[in-house]
Amino acid sequence: MEIKKVVVIGSGTMGSGIAAQLCNANIPVTLLDLKTEISQKAKDRIFKSRPPLLIDKSNIDNIKVGNISDDFNIVGEADWIVEAVVERIDIKHNIYDKIFKSRKEGAIVSSNTSSIPIKVLSQNLTEEQKKDFCITHFFNPVRYMGLLEIVKNENNDLNKINSLKVFCENLLGKGAIICNDTPGFLGNRVGVYAMQVAMTEAFKMKLSIEEADAVFGRPMGIPKTGVFGLYDLIGIDLMADVLKSFIKELPQNDEFQIVAKEIPLIKKLIESGYTGRKGKGGFYRMNKTDGKKILEAINLETGNYSVSKKIDLKLDKVDLKTLINRKDKYGEYAWSVISKIIKYASSLVPGITDKFNDIDEAMRLGFNWVKGPFEMLKEIGVKNFFEKVDSFENNKFLENLSKKKDENFYGERQLYTNIETVGKIKPKAIKVDKNNSAEIYRFKDFNIVEFTTKANTLDYESMDSLKKATDKPLIIINESMQFSAGVNLTYTMDFADKGDFKSIEKFIKYFQETCKHLKYSKYPVVSAPSGLTLGGGFEVLVQSNFVASHTNIVVGLVETIVGLVPAGGGCKEMLWRWFQSDEAKKDPDYAPLKVFEIIGYAKTATSPTEAEPLKYLRPEDEKIMNRNSLLSVSKKILEKNKNFVPPKECEFNLSGKPLKEKMIKVLEKLYNEKVILDHGVEVGKELANVLSGGETSIDKTLTEKDLYQLELNSFMKLIENQKTQDRIRHTLSSGKPLVN
Ligand code: NAI
Repeated sequence: MEIKKVVVIGSGTMGSGIAAQLCNANIPVTLLDLKTEISQKAKDRIFKSRPPLLIDKSNIDNIKVGNISDDFNIVGEADWIVEAVVERIDIKHNIYDKIFKSRKEGAIVSSNTSSIPIKVLSQNLTEEQKKDFCITHFFNPVRYMGLLEIVKNENNDLNKINSLKVFCENLLGKGAIICNDTPGFLGNRVGVYAMQVAMTEAFKMKLSIEEADAVFGRPMGIPKTGVFGLYDLIGIDLMADVLKSFIKELPQNDEFQIVAKEIPLIKKLIESGYTGRKGKGGFYRMNKTDGKKILEAINLETGNYSVSKKIDLKLDKVDLKTLINRKDKYGEYAWSVISKIIKYASSLVPGITDKFNDIDEAMRLGFNWVKGPFEMLKEIGVKNFFEKVDSFENNKFLENLSKKKDENFYGERQLYTNIETVGKIKPKAIKVDKNNSAEIYRFKDFNIVEFTTKANTLDYESMDSLKKATDKPLIIINESMQFSAGVNLTYTMDFADKGDFKSIEKFIKYFQETCKHLKYSKYPVVSAPSGLTLGGGFEVLVQSNFVASHTNIVVGLVETIVGLVPAGGGCKEMLWRWFQSDEAKKDPDYAPLKVFEIIGYAKTATSPTEAEPLKYLRPEDEKIMNRNSLLSVSKKILEKNKNFVPPKECEFNLSGKPLKEKMIKVLEKLYNEKVILDHGVEVGKELANVLSGGETSIDKTLTEKDLYQLELNSFMKLIENQKTQDRIRHTLSSGKPLVN
């Protein structure tokens, strides 16, 4: 079965997300709704969405729009029809009736339902029609969430289901897990349960919402929105509907029922329009006092808001053992929540699925957890878990495990896919080295470096690992959300606060030396980014010999925002790339001026398609829809380059002073237009100094070493400047830029 054309019916949040992802895969898709105006509005929304749903906006016309009365004949041309209308069974049944009258023979019909069982959805279909009907449950936002649950019925043609799975994996880039027809399938069954446990335990244990979110967040390997933040993001009213559906569908004795009960405070919030971020606010809200926006948090007991307090548990890494053994309320809360999640998830095996591993993967892909419940159990340790846990009657999985006490119960990972992923091969590798910031894995003929810090920010130890790992062909890749958000600014500011600028200089020099080493070492280096690839993270990428990039990346040199200039070779490499263009051959100032604009404005790209015109990525870099495939593509690159010869060192002829003056003119104009302020000019001048070559002239040839030195000098001048430090401190505390 080949899918060449798709129709999506229902152009709301999910229908438009699905259509956009099909558009990203270059599959022509028609989006139908009750009225064409509705689907046209959805198309406009797709075009403007932030973060963007489209990889390449110029492809928007892959999406056609129409309405279900006048344009339904298009269904007859589709190989796959996705229904994504409101969660109402009567409406869905009506639509299937129409679809099966019009569809091409053999075309697949699927529903995006999040809660209606397939047996109910398909109850009016003939046996023959049921063969081609299934559920394809995508997660929001479709481009960015990895999980797709495919639910089959007993009549399905399995070859067809499998080819749909392969299509969704390869072309739509999804981690497609085939699930049984049970309420909430895998992701929501465990994910929503986990949220409810985290919430009800917070009420019970009288934790503030900030405290609960601080525990049920990063330290547990869960996104930092925690539970109350996530509730606000999803919509408190939508969550209430989801819970109602679980209460209805699940048996009375299911543990879920206990945590799904209506909470009076939530009812009150919904009734008063506090439905979350889309409403007046939710558990958190923004309040304006004296023209300043202030984040407030609700008190779970009184329902009153007060200024939100930041809770720092001083646990930057996922460390469950330390967390659950803390002798304070946070430790107690963590254990209570984690143990309940493990107990619930394991109670679903084998009834809901015989592959517990799929539950973990659904939690990673659908909820962005670092570890699923069973991996949490593995990390805590089987012995430790059973020493601490109370009862687990009628839980076959835990009963068995408690008898066997097998610490190595886990076995292989990511069983849902045949793709050779990082997760699959890591357990088979030799762990050569591990420090606080990275790990090195060795395979027969190559190494892997995986960064392990928060957002994979870089420090001395990350560089150490990269340097050590170049004794073989190297792939820099990781399983966490971000490739690297750049240099660790907290680490840098710790030195600055002590006035220890020598240590910062030493670090930057080591960063430069390592990147140079990556570029010119005997063996090829491949960077395989996904997510944030910013600042220093980009400098690692740009000085790798090859790139295999996920289509979901945010890439760029953003140092000027915090009052710095790229100093790990970013200026140098961007200059070099732009010097290769035809325009640069005619005008020696063309490349530096272009780079001045790109780095000066801290331009970022949100996909490879956007990154290429800026030369953050090159046409020859591989671009990959399915994140799981980054490793196999990287390996292929290494295989193709068995006889790798390191590149020649670059040389530069830069105009010096006259070029710098041109750049300063640009800065003056921006200053007069109040686009930048005093310190913006200072930062711009330093950038101009680097990109113009400093004290040089066009007839002098500068080496890479000269450019590294220029970058370092400017970086050091700026980091010692109070105003740059103000910018960094502000960004670290608020996550926002300071314009000064
Ligand atoms: P939505 O309310 O944003 O959009 C529904 C769309 O269906 C609207 O544009 C509406 O005009 C259209 N519609 C209603 N009746 C129609 C009909 N007879 N023919 C054509 N179009 C019709 O809903 P949303 O959130 O996109 O949900 C769609 C489906 O996806 C539901 O089944 C929901 O349970 C499921 N889902 C929702 C998720 C979410 O996060 N919003 C996540 C996963 C699944």
